[in-house]
Amino acid sequence: MTDFIGGLPKCELHLHIEGTLEPELKFELAGRNGIDLPYASVEEIRAAYSFDDLPSFLKIYYEGMDVLRTEPDFYDLAMAYLRKAASQNVRYAEIFFDPQAHTSRGVPFDLVIRGLRRALIDAENQLGIRAQLIMCFLRDFQAEYAMATLLESLPYREWIVGVGLDSDEKGNPPVKFKAVYERARQEGYLLTMHCDVDQENSTEHIRQAIEEIGVNRIDHGVNALEDPSLVEAIREKGLGLTVCPISNGYVTDSMKADAIRRMLDLGLRVTVNSDDPAYFTGYVQENLVALADALQLSREDLVQLERNAFEITWLPRHLKDAYLAELDAYAAG
Ligand code: HPA
Ligand code: ZN
Repeated sequence: MTDFIGGLPKCELHLHIEGTLEPELKFELAGRNGIDLPYASVEEIRAAYSFDDLPSFLKIYYEGMDVLRTEPDFYDLAMAYLRKAASQNVRYAEIFFDPQAHTSRGVPFDLVIRGLRRALIDAENQLGIRAQLIMCFLRDFQAEYAMATLLESLPYREWIVGVGLDSDEKGNPPVKFKAVYERARQEGYLLTMHCDVDQENSTEHIRQAIEEIGVNRIDHGVNALEDPSLVEAIREKGLGLTVCPISNGYVTDSMKADAIRRMLDLGLRVTVNSDDPAYFTGYVQENLVALADALQLSREDLVQLERNAFEITWLPRHLKDAYLAELDAYAAG
C-alpha cells in the first residue's frame, strides 16, 4: 500500500509554508542572517519540539520562523517544500502563508510574497509541480490588522488565490473577521478558514464559517460530525474539508481516523493533508500511509481521497479535469 500511495497523483490543500521549516534549513538561515540559535544541533532543535495542544504548538511555530528574514529565505523555504512534495508525487499544492507572522516582526510583506512567488514559478518550470498561495490572517490579532493586511495584499492580488484564517482559535470566532472576509470576497479572493479540532465552541465556529462567512472550504472541520445540520450543510454546499491526521495526533487526543472514515462514508469531500510537516514529522505521503494503516483503507478509498482533493482545488475546471484524468489512469493501471 505504501508503494501504491507513493505513485498516487496527490494534492496538498492544507499546508503552512512556515510549518515546513526543517531544523536543517533553520540552521542554514540562522547562519546566513547572523542569528544565534539557542540550540547546538538539529537533534537539539527536534528534541525541543514538545507540544500537546494548539497553543503549545503555535509558540514553537512562531519562534521557529524568526530566522526567515530575506527574500531568498522565503524562496529557499518554499523551494525546499516543493522539492519534497514533488518527490512524493504531489502534483498540485495550495500553500498557506502567514504574512502577519512576518510583518509583525518587521519583515516586509513585499519581500515575503516575492520570495514565495519566485519559488512557485521555478518549481513549476523545473519540477512540474503546480502551486498557488493562500494568505492567512492570524485570528489572535485584531481584525483591523487583518483588514490592513488584506489591503496590503491587493497589489499582489493576481498572486494569491484566496484567504484563510489560522492561529489560536480560542476566543477568536469566525465572525470576528466578518468584515475582512466580506471585503476579501469583493476583491475576488476565495475563502477558507481553520475550524481547528476539539476547540471550545468548535461546532458554533463551523456554523459561523458556513452561514455567516460563507466559506468555500473548511480547514480541519472534524467536529462538524457532532451536528447533523452541519453535516447536511457541508454536503449540500459541497464544501471540502482539509483534514490533517498526524497533526491531529499531536494537538488533540488522536489522529481522528474514525472521523475521517465517517466523512468518507457520508460522501463528504474530505481530504488528507500535512499541516506543518516539519513539526508534525510527516508530509502528505506519511499522512496517507498513517491513515491507511489505521483504517485499513482500500485503494478505492485512497483514490477517493485524492479525487476529493483535486475536485475541491481552486483551479479552473480544465486543470482539475486534467489532474483527475491522471488520477483515473493511475487507478485503472
Ligand atoms: N491551526 C491553527 N493555526 C496554525 C495551524 C493550525 O493547524 N498551523 C499553523 N498555524
Ligand atoms: Zn493548519
